[in-house]
Amino acid sequence: MTKSTSLLLATVVAFGMMATTASADIKKGQKAYLKTCKNCHGNGTKGASMHTQAEWEALFANDAESIIAKHAGTKAEGFFGGATFKNTAQDLRDFLFEYGNDSGNAPSCG
Ligand code: HEC
Repeated sequence: MTKSTSLLLATVVAFGMMATTASADIKKGQKAYLKTCKNCHGNGTKGASMHTQAEWEALFANDAESIIAKHAGTKAEGFFGGATFKNTAQDLRDFLFEYGNDSGNAPSCG
């Protein structure tokens, strides 16, 4: 890849990120999912289809108590106990709920 091609690519990526930031919470949640959960749970479609909408609701109820508990003793324990999870929990919930396995929706990418 030439220098100018990679510069162009970087610009495209930067614009893409700005566009995502401006849209809804579901998009933010999807981004957070891809960044933090995908390594262990697979792509967004797979992750969201782990549970029904009602189950996602329950997992994220009471400050996400239940999903935090599910990760106790896993490598993700620190992340779930930290501020980053606290700050993104609502967006994650929105994304996972939107695409829960009984929702009939599927994320367009990821
Ligand atoms: C370091 C790997 C890792 C990361 C990162 C991780 N998880 Fe998990 N997750 C696990 C393990 C291990 C379990 C417990 C075993 C299982 O049920 O698969 C688990 C369990 C779960 C469960 C419960 C599954 C069930 O059967 O009820 C859900 C839901 C879940 N994770 C969602 C997420 C979400 C959402 C994220 C991102 C915010 C995430 N996980 C990040 C490893 C991880």
